[in-house]
Amino acid sequence: FDGAPLAGRHVLVTAGPTHEPIDPVRYIANRSSGKQGFAIAAAAAAAGARVTLVAGPVELATPPGVTRVDVQTARDMAAAVRENLPADIAIMAAAVADWRTRDVAESKMKKRGDAPPALELAENPDILATLGASDARPGLLIGFAAETDDVVENAQAKRARKKADWIIANDVSGGVGQSVMGGAHNTIHLVTEDGVEDWPQMPKEEVAMRLVERIALALENDDD
Ligand code: C5P
Repeated sequence: FDGAPLAGRHVLVTAGPTHEPIDPVRYIANRSSGKQGFAIAAAAAAAGARVTLVAGPVELATPPGVTRVDVQTARDMAAAVRENLPADIAIMAAAVADWRTRDVAESKMKKRGDAPPALELAENPDILATLGASDARPGLLIGFAAETDDVVENAQAKRARKKADWIIANDVSGGVGQSVMGGAHNTIHLVTEDGVEDWPQMPKEEVAMRLVERIALALENDDD
């Protein structure tokens, strides 16, 4: 970056999946490598920001200059986000599990030969929507929308419902193992109050750099 366009700013990023335990050996999770969120944290730090990265369980190295907080569950992630406010910019890239099991079995559940166990689910907190409605709402609040159908329409609805400023929509159709998840590239649509920008497919690091440039520009215009 030219200079340090995010110097003096605190950027809070969530990344990776959350793991919701069923018993000591099993969990519920979404597919997520954490690569896009980690790349965003790295780019924000390279742009001079103070960066807090709240990471679910992933196998990725902490980018230079980034303060990392590791969490397992959605509720842990929500607490870590809350504890690390205020932030000037929040980018919620984590693939948070929507549900957890209502109760966690203390011992490993056994196969018994009769009917498989039924899991009773409870809803997890929506971290992005909570921030959107919070007194401590960051000045620029950015969410992701991983969709397989009606990508942009769903992202626009999500932007309104969760009171985010921007939603980064990415098409994750293509089937298990064929998709963006875990891959090195991403094709995104940036949904703002002004409309939709379709970005060409590019490496996740490049998505991150361009996003940070867009953020710096938005803050600059804000300060005028
Ligand atoms: O899961 P969904 O498609 O609604 O996620 C959209 C955005 O909301 C993402 O930015 C995701 O990180 C965020 N989210 C969240 N907490 C949840 C579910 C989603 O912060 N429980």
